[in-house]
Amino acid sequence: MRIKCHLSVLVTGGAGFIGSRLVMKLLSEGTDVDIIDDLSSGDPNFISYIIKQHSNVRFYKLNLLDNIELKDYDIVYHLAANPEVRIGVSEPKIHVEQNIIATFKLLEEIRKHDIERVVFTSSSTVYGDALIIPTPEDYAPLEPISIYGASKLACEAIISSYAHTYGLKALILRLANIIGENSNHGVIIDFMKRLKNNPKRLEVLGDGTQNKSYLYVEDCIDAMQYAIKSNKTVDFFNIGSEDSILVSDIAKIVIEELRLNNTEIVFTGGYQGRGWKGDVKNMRLDVSKIKALGWKPNYNSLEAVKYTVRRLAKSFK
Ligand SMILES: NC(=O)c1ccc[n+]([C@@H]2O[C@H](COP(=O)([O-])OP(=O)(O)OC[C@H]3O[C@@H](n4cnc5c(N)ncnc54)[C@H](O)[C@@H]3O)[C@@H](O)[C@H]2O)c1
Repeated sequence: MRIKCHLSVLVTGGAGFIGSRLVMKLLSEGTDVDIIDDLSSGDPNFISYIIKQHSNVRFYKLNLLDNIELKDYDIVYHLAANPEVRIGVSEPKIHVEQNIIATFKLLEEIRKHDIERVVFTSSSTVYGDALIIPTPEDYAPLEPISIYGASKLACEAIISSYAHTYGLKALILRLANIIGENSNHGVIIDFMKRLKNNPKRLEVLGDGTQNKSYLYVEDCIDAMQYAIKSNKTVDFFNIGSEDSILVSDIAKIVIEELRLNNTEIVFTGGYQGRGWKGDVKNMRLDVSKIKALGWKPNYNSLEAVKYTVRRLAKSFK
């Protein structure tokens, strides 16, 4: 299928949680935006009102694994992926196909159309169980412990090779846990769904001591706009908050914010205290590189979690 496009920016996964916020930001800056999304985990409601309000945005319901054909964009923001880390344990093929093969097919189109820039949302999971925390971008060896992390690292590698071989510029953004209204996966939404089913008992995967960094989605979008200033052939940026929060504390905050009483928190113990095999137990990224470009987050992990739960709670009833 050939996409008729007169404008310069493509956002894959633009109907998803982060993608829809990015689209909104780009449109507010006057950029023309095309969105490709197969709606496998995205939601048309995230973008329908944006499409109504703006004439310079187009949505294409397409799967990157199909034979799509792009036109000449200035920048491709590649966010489309299967972001469910946990699913990799039972179905590793999903991350290989949806993340690695889909990225390869997109890169072939980028190459054919001489598109100059690609921005890729990678993940903190490429670091695996890092021995240095906060973890800097040049940490090595990169040893992912999940298929998802491996798929993101494979994408980073192939994007880097395309940049060096075919003359495009690549920006690799390694995101911490990104949260906010419209988040449709991850620990907060998981807890809220469980509590909706049973407000008296919250089962927490793992031992509750998992300690990770959470960043509010607007801070993430803001950081992306700072990172784009880089002019290197391939550049890497960590994007996350400067602190972290325990899963057990997130459980307490969710219960508190939902105004629930007498909810028992039960820890499954999980695998080595993790939620599941492949769940990184401690994650905090060194964000000094992106901060040196002028970015700083508005919310720390605790504030981001509280704010997100409050916003999501409005539709919880
Ligand atoms: N949310 C986080 O905490 C987080 C952390 C690190 C990295 N990331 C990455 O950021 C990106 C966006 O994540 P998100 O949280 O917004 O997830 P999301 O699921 O809301 O967004 C992903 C979007 O990609 C679409 N998609 C998936 N496979 C596709 C395909 N083959 N063709 C077309 N569209 C496809 C989905 O329908 C969805 O709209 C992903 O690449 C994810 O891996 C997210």
